[in-house]
Amino acid sequence: MTGAADYIRFFRTWLAKPVLTGAVSPSGRALARAMAAQVPAASAWPVLELGPGTGPVTAALIEHGVAAERIVAVEFNPDFCALLVQRYRGVNVVEGDAYDLAMTLPPGLTGPYAAVVSSLPLLTRPAEARLALIEGALDRILPGGALVQFSYGLGPPVKAQPGSISVTQAAFVLANLPPARVWLYRRERRR
Ligand SMILES: C[S@@+](CC[C@H](N)C(=O)[O-])C[C@H]1O[C@@H](n2cnc3c(N)ncnc32)[C@H](O)[C@@H]1O
Repeated sequence: MTGAADYIRFFRTWLAKPVLTGAVSPSGRALARAMAAQVPAASAWPVLELGPGTGPVTAALIEHGVAAERIVAVEFNPDFCALLVQRYRGVNVVEGDAYDLAMTLPPGLTGPYAAVVSSLPLLTRPAEARLALIEGALDRILPGGALVQFSYGLGPPVKAQPGSISVTQAAFVLANLPPARVWLYRRERRR
């Protein structure tokens, strides 16, 4: 559960690096659970988490039934990485840039994944970089699997790409500050 120390830690990090951190506080439990609920808990394949921060979504994934050893968590901030290693035994914490997964993921952790769960602040990046991130994540997901992304905006942070990528709203979490939406990105199946 997210304690007061995490809120202070997160807020301090946001003060120092607002664009990279992307939020003033960790996601609430309801949002973290709504994201984790979109992940197939029983799959034998790993789950890639992008931007875990202090770990509320990591905790929700484990609570949902995803074994810690199945989670690969890519985080840019070294202090958050150290905290995740200490807090979530078994989780594969990778320090690096989620926008460059080809460089960041070490051999053996390149996929395929049952799902990708992202809390990255997408809207701080240009549209092409956001689309490249979605494409790169979907390339690593097994057929039928989804990239789960939250945002605070009314619409998806990257629009559907007709014939290539679909996006649907999976949840609207009013009990988060601010309220957030959970989006599912999938490869469109060719007929
Ligand atoms: C909005 S916070 C979400 C943190 C946490 N998942 C939550 O829901 O509270 C975004 C996180 O993504 C991390 N981040 C931002 N850009 C990143 C990048 N390019 N690669 C990896 N992590 C990144 C930030 O350090 C921060 O921890």
